[in-house]
Amino acid sequence: MSEKDFIPAPYTTLKEEGSVTYSSPSNIALVKYWGKRENQIPANPSISFTLAACVTKTCVHYKKKAQHSDEFSFDLLFEGEAKEEFKPKINTFLKRIVAYLPFLKDYHFIINTSNSFPHSSGIASSASGMSALALCFMEMEKTFLPNITTNDFNRKVSFLSRLGSGSACRSIEGPLVQWGETSSIKGSSNLYGIKYPYEVHEIFNNFHDTILLVDKGEKQVSSTVGHELMHGHPFATQRFDQAHTNLEKLGKVLADGNLIDFISIVESEALTLHAMMMTSNPYFILMKPNTLSIINEIWKFREESNTHVCFTLDAGANVHVLYPENEKDVVFPFIKEKLVPFCQNGQYICDRIGLGAKKL
Ligand code: PMV
Repeated sequence: MSEKDFIPAPYTTLKEEGSVTYSSPSNIALVKYWGKRENQIPANPSISFTLAACVTKTCVHYKKKAQHSDEFSFDLLFEGEAKEEFKPKINTFLKRIVAYLPFLKDYHFIINTSNSFPHSSGIASSASGMSALALCFMEMEKTFLPNITTNDFNRKVSFLSRLGSGSACRSIEGPLVQWGETSSIKGSSNLYGIKYPYEVHEIFNNFHDTILLVDKGEKQVSSTVGHELMHGHPFATQRFDQAHTNLEKLGKVLADGNLIDFISIVESEALTLHAMMMTSNPYFILMKPNTLSIINEIWKFREESNTHVCFTLDAGANVHVLYPENEKDVVFPFIKEKLVPFCQNGQYICDRIGLGAKKL
């Protein structure tokens, strides 16, 4: 498939007015996406667990403009209040997707959005936010072109979400979504995420992700800048090759449920992501002292308890603690007693693997 395949057939009718609401989750990558080419094409393939609790809920009310104009027209409300500072990002997103949703300039939108997780918690809301908005627009298009299949719908939403924020293309479905062309995964594409197409061992059912909020401050470095720094990075080629290899290895682990191998891939991916940041020019460190304390506590406990708790990281200081459902009675008390004291204001979020976006 190419970009052109996402340009729709001409609409015969446009509805005057209506509204649509979606909830879309965040996701946590197991093999990380870090580095991109033009138009949000990833430099390497990635795979993520879709989350269940961290979601953005977006309602789009649309009303046909009295006259077509060449500008996008929308109001943006975040948690009930007008948010002017979010508008440029949405405007850029609309510019990128209008070729694929040509009705966007025919309407005035009221976009009302809220997150289930605390504002400025350091939890990236771009994946859930951009995918929720893309879902609302696609649902609108579905009213003009109702014959679209669920597969084509999901694929186009993922394609559009990617143009808002790369990782957002992995938030539509669940429990595992893969994005980026790679020889080990049939149907993989740089243009959109696909539901992981192979067998997954039952140990991953209901897998937990307790997110420890170590630092809720503004990110020192945006992911846009971070991706940019992979151009000319001294280890870029090796890193991109490693992601393909790790994805292939992870495929085996997802099928046979070997948690020891799961841990070594996932933790190495997290540390490699941060190693890329520490070795770019300019270099930076997003982990905080408490991030490292948590990692060390996890390693100590894992050895003592014979459990399979492990960690992964986003481009920030927060820690995602991953563990299987059948170990939660041992692992969760450990988290509360030993790890939560390292969280800012003791804050954490109990999340787990989820099934993707929902129409409300
Ligand atoms: O979607 P972006 O452009 O914000 O990039 C996110 C990249 C990481 O979260 C660090 C890794 C990933 O694969 O999600």
